[in-house]
Amino acid sequence: MSHAHPLQVVILAAGQGTRMRSGLPKVLHPIAGQAMVHHVIAAASALSSRKTVVVVGHGASVVEGALADAGVAFAVQSPQLGTGHAVQMALPALQPLPKDGQVLILYGDVPLIQPATLKALLQAAGDGVGLVTQHLEHPTGYGRIVRDEAGNVVCNVEEKDATDEQRKITEVNTGILCLPACHLPDWLGALSNNNAQGEYYLTDLLAMAVKAGVPVHTVSPQHDWEVAGVNSKVQLAMLERVWQQHQAEQLMIDGVRLADPARIDIRGALACGRDVSIDVGCVFEGAVVLEDGVQIGPYCVLRDATIKAGARIDAFSHLDQAVVGPDAVVGPYARLRPGSTLGAGAHVGNFVELKNTQLGNGSKANHLAYVGDATVGERVNIGAGTITCNYDGANKHRTIIEDDAFIGSDTQLVAPVTVGRGATLGAGTTLTKDAPPDALTVSRAKQLSLTGWQRPIKQKK
Ligand code: UD1
Ligand code: CA
Repeated sequence: MSHAHPLQVVILAAGQGTRMRSGLPKVLHPIAGQAMVHHVIAAASALSSRKTVVVVGHGASVVEGALADAGVAFAVQSPQLGTGHAVQMALPALQPLPKDGQVLILYGDVPLIQPATLKALLQAAGDGVGLVTQHLEHPTGYGRIVRDEAGNVVCNVEEKDATDEQRKITEVNTGILCLPACHLPDWLGALSNNNAQGEYYLTDLLAMAVKAGVPVHTVSPQHDWEVAGVNSKVQLAMLERVWQQHQAEQLMIDGVRLADPARIDIRGALACGRDVSIDVGCVFEGAVVLEDGVQIGPYCVLRDATIKAGARIDAFSHLDQAVVGPDAVVGPYARLRPGSTLGAGAHVGNFVELKNTQLGNGSKANHLAYVGDATVGERVNIGAGTITCNYDGANKHRTIIEDDAFIGSDTQLVAPVTVGRGATLGAGTTLTKDAPPDALTVSRAKQLSLTGWQRPIKQKK
């Protein structure tokens, strides 16, 4: 059974977040490389929300700027007079409210709420109210859920307004709730701030619903961490670890071998084929694809990279916007900068940097080289110490190295320059003109030996 109610989402993000001790608005602090509020927006998108309104207040312009491309609307709440007041401020942006609509309330600092839990909430709510609650051994600080003898929700009472008896209740309000759009304007309009904190409590809508004969249904989150809020850097770090562990478990469930699930960080989307293995200490950013049989050595960083089947990335390698061909070997200590593509079976070894360079099938640069803005053919060998001089101080120029060329060690290729097919460059060559195919090109002073030459002798003072 799927709910046919049109959905709108309100994300509260006006609070200051004093305990973060930061100039950055709280909801912009990252979990897994993405602002917390982005995670919440993604959850709303997964539910096909018709409209998502982010309520901003503290640091409003910074938050709006950061979310300019997120496809959300904004409502400003200033000053912040409570969670009920925050939703009131969002009301104009929600108009026109569809009669059978549902309005889901989420929080910019509760970043890991998952679509599955929210779907269950919307389903349970139906035409009524839905609320995510949780049982906590230590409920201090939370709003308590008061139920009647039949077990029906009567109201929420905030800690500061609660009696001693109510404070013993262990079922707490997570804040995440779903409200029937048709009642929302009336209920919000009826809120008062006659309570211990002098705030307009969104939670008072529960008692209003009960009074109006609208049922309140509750659901539990699938995982406790889904409803955990972030108020400090300590909580931010804790939730980061929880999320990384969850992602690591998903990978292992999908068949990836992780040397240690506690030592991997995924800040984006990591897609893996079969029989992929990842050693300790690796960081994956943006969209990374590891095809079948790929092995990633320890302490590698891969950002927006695709590694084709059977390739191996050895320890301490750094790849950014690179494509590594099938069965290629990269590292240890290799750096592939944006625009680098390696063909099948290519090798890039220690202390080799590639930038905007295509290295053809079977080509090798095994030690200590900088190859930038270059097109390298197949089966080319690039010797140790080779450098493309691609930058003349004002402009970048390309180097072309054709198939089967052999570049001797310690060679400088002063671009623009072309090395012909099958050409050999002698070690130490500074190539300033094109090297013809199949010939040996060498540019260095002829070697000479002086017989009878004496070493200088240290003079006595
Ligand atoms: C709220 C709930 C409480 C629940 C708890 C769960 C109310 C009255 N109480 O309490 O029942 O157990 O969350 O964490 O709702 N915000 C605004 N504008 C405001 C006030 C708050 O945008 O004027 C935002 C905050 O930035 C924050 C969220 O709403 O993200 C919750 O506000 P907070 O003051 O932390 O609520 P609690 O007192 O914890
Ligand atoms: Ca509060």
